[in-house]
Amino acid sequence: MATIRVSPMAEGDIPGSVAAIQAAFAEDPYTHWMFDMSKYNAQRNAASLGVRCRWGMRNGLFHVAKEQGSDEVLGVAMWLKPQPANQPATWYDWFEDWRLWFNQLGMNLYYGRGGLNVKRYYIWKQAQETAHSSVWTDPRGYYFLNIMVVSPKAQGKGIGRAMMKYVTDRADLEGMPCYLESSRDVPNMEIYGRFGFRFAKELLCDDDGTAIKLYTMVRDPDGPSTT
Ligand SMILES: CC(C)(COP(=O)(O)OP(=O)(O)OC[C@H]1O[C@@H](n2cnc3c(N)ncnc32)[C@H](O)[C@@H]1OP(=O)(O)O)[C@@H](O)C(=O)NCCC(=O)NCCS
Repeated sequence: MATIRVSPMAEGDIPGSVAAIQAAFAEDPYTHWMFDMSKYNAQRNAASLGVRCRWGMRNGLFHVAKEQGSDEVLGVAMWLKPQPANQPATWYDWFEDWRLWFNQLGMNLYYGRGGLNVKRYYIWKQAQETAHSSVWTDPRGYYFLNIMVVSPKAQGKGIGRAMMKYVTDRADLEGMPCYLESSRDVPNMEIYGRFGFRFAKELLCDDDGTAIKLYTMVRDPDGPSTT
């Protein structure tokens, strides 16, 4: 395999990033719990991810992996920057939150919900908040890996490691912890363990007995193995 290059996501990377995310999550337990797959609308999902990518390019640390000399997106990582506890939101954050909200509203009006189970969306949000309140003990906040995917055809070749190192090196330099939520225990907990993450807490999303579990993991600065 040619050398892998990791770079900040650009507008032209959005279609390839969306395709990589949709392919990697096609069989994911979270997707199948959150969406009624008989009503799933891939176009609506792509528009929603596009809105999220544009928000992340301005506010997060969203990056892509490609082979040297190729424009094909093989991997995507979406990180959120640390949010210190008790730090009030700035006017810019406030504006960006509303901008995201209006863009999502416009998309929902145009496409409808596309199979998204809104009740479950709020169950997930609540479970996430509960987990954060017990796992996020560092008041400086965490680099939060929201999504990381490698196209199925390119998995297991070191692309995930290259993307991970891009942010964990920065976190180590700053002495900051990292955090993630994975929708699979096997094999992801082992994979993330190799990057220095340790299991923190299960995040149970229970819709009247139809439940899924997510797995939260934390990485201390200078974790053992992203070099
Ligand atoms: C999880 C994922 C991002 C990892 O990316 P990847 O490019 O496949 O991972 P890498 O090739 O860089 O491997 C990283 C390490 O995990 C190990 N590993 C890779 N696949 C593994 C597997 N199936 N089981 C156990 N270990 C594995 C590798 O040996 C490597 O360790 P090493 O460098 O110490 O030898 C990718 O597999 C993926 O997109 N999965 C589907 C989507 C998903 O579940 N994303 C995470 C939730 S947000």
